Amino acid sequence: MSTYRFKDNFVWGVATSSYQIEGAALEDGRGQSIWDTFCRVPGKVVNGENGDVACDHYHRFEQDLDLMADLGVDAYRFSIAWPRVQPDGRGAFNDKGIAFYDRLVDGLLKRGIQPYATLYHWDLPLALQESQSGWESRDTAYRFADYARRIGSALGDRVASIATHNEPWCTAWLGNATGYFAPGNADLKKAAHVSHHLLLSHGLALQALRADGVKAPLGIVLNQSPAHGATDSPEDQAAASLEYAKFVRWYMDPIFKGEYPEEALQWYGENGPQEVIRAGDFGIIGAPLDFLGINYYTRIFASASGEKRPPGVLGFTDMDWEVYPQGLTELLTGLNAEYKLPPIYITENGCAAKDVLDNGRVHDADRVAFYDLHLAALSDAVEKGVDVAGYFAWSLMDNFEWASGYDKRFGMVYVDYETQQRTLKDSALWYRDMIAKHAGAAASR
Ligand code: FCB
Repeated sequence: MSTYRFKDNFVWGVATSSYQIEGAALEDGRGQSIWDTFCRVPGKVVNGENGDVACDHYHRFEQDLDLMADLGVDAYRFSIAWPRVQPDGRGAFNDKGIAFYDRLVDGLLKRGIQPYATLYHWDLPLALQESQSGWESRDTAYRFADYARRIGSALGDRVASIATHNEPWCTAWLGNATGYFAPGNADLKKAAHVSHHLLLSHGLALQALRADGVKAPLGIVLNQSPAHGATDSPEDQAAASLEYAKFVRWYMDPIFKGEYPEEALQWYGENGPQEVIRAGDFGIIGAPLDFLGINYYTRIFASASGEKRPPGVLGFTDMDWEVYPQGLTELLTGLNAEYKLPPIYITENGCAAKDVLDNGRVHDADRVAFYDLHLAALSDAVEKGVDVAGYFAWSLMDNFEWASGYDKRFGMVYVDYETQQRTLKDSALWYRDMIAKHAGAAASR
C-alpha cells in the first residue's frame, strides 16, 4: 500500500446520493422526482429499472451508518432528495421527509462521522418539471434557494458542509442536450439555459444560506476532466481545448471569473445562454466558495480528425471509462494555476467493475488498484501545491447507476438486491486499513 502525503486533518469519506440508494419512493409523503418518471420511459434505463427500492437505505440507514463506522471513515457525503422534503418543489415542506435527514445526521454525529450534505443530486421535484419545465425556468432557481434555506435551518447547525449542486454539467448536458438523463430533452439551447439557471440557483442558495447565518462551509461539486486531443494535430488540439471549455470552464469561469468562456460561447452561437442572462447574475454566481468539490473519473478525448482514442495504458472500467490517474494531477495543477481556488475536496472518484460475490467475499483487486493509483496522483497534486482537504470514494455501496440501472457496480460494499444483504468487498477492507494507516502516521508526526 502506498503512503500518500496529505495534511494531518485530511478527511477520508465515502459518498452516495439520494435517488441512487434510498428507495421508499412512495413513503412518508415523498413527492415524485423527474427520475421516477424518466425510469418509466421505455429504453431509457437498462432493464427498465428504477430507484423505487434501490438499496432500501431509507429503512436500513442505521445499518449503513454502522458499516461506515466499521470502515473508520471521517465523513459521509450524501444528498437530500428535494421531493422528499418539499414534494411539489414549492410551498409546503414535508416534516416526515426532513425528519429522515435529521435522523441521518444525528446518526452520523453519534458515530463520529461528519455529514457532508449535497442539496441537489439530480432528483428534481416532478411538479417543477411539469409546471414550468424545471431548470429551463428562472423561477426554479428561486425555488431552489427557498428549499436550500429550509435545509439550512433544519440541518445547518450540524452538517460539516453543504454543497449546492452535484455535477451541473450532467443535469444540463446529459439531461437536456443528449437526453441520456432525466428529463430527457435533446435540445442544445435548453441545455444552455438550464446551465445558466443552475449556476444562478447555486449563487442564490449561497446568498440565502449566508443571510440566514448558516455557519457550515458552502460550495459546489463539479465533474471535471482534462481534455486531450486524439493526435498532436492543431485540429485535434483545438477540439480538446473546446471540449475543456464546454465541460470544465463553462462552470469554473462564471464562478471564478464572472463570465462564460468565449471559446464555448462561440461554439454555442445562437443556442447559448445569452437570452436568459440578466444584469447582476454573474455577481450572484460568483459568490465566494468555502470549498470546491471535484468529481474525477477519467480524461476526455477530443478528435477533429476522426482518430479514435488511443488504447488505454491501464485499461478501461466496466463503464468503458479509461483508467487515467495522472489526469487528476494534471487537472488539479492546471486549475490551481488558472483560478484562485478555495480548498478542494475530491467528492467522488471510483470505478465500476464486474464484481462477483463468492463465499462471502468479493475480490475486487481492480478497484483497489484504481483507488491506490488515484490517491497517489492526488498526493502528487498536493506536492505540487494544490490545497486538498479530503477525498470521498464513490461509492459506499453498489447502487442505482442512473441510465445503467443496477448493472454497474461502483460500491466498496456489495449489495445483493434480492436480499438487501451488504458484504464488504476487498476494496472496503483495503480502504479501512489505508485510513487507519494514515491516521496512525499523522498521529505520530
Ligand atoms: C457521477 C455521479 C454519481 C455516480 C457516478 C458514477 O457522475 O455524480 O451519482 O453516478 O458518476
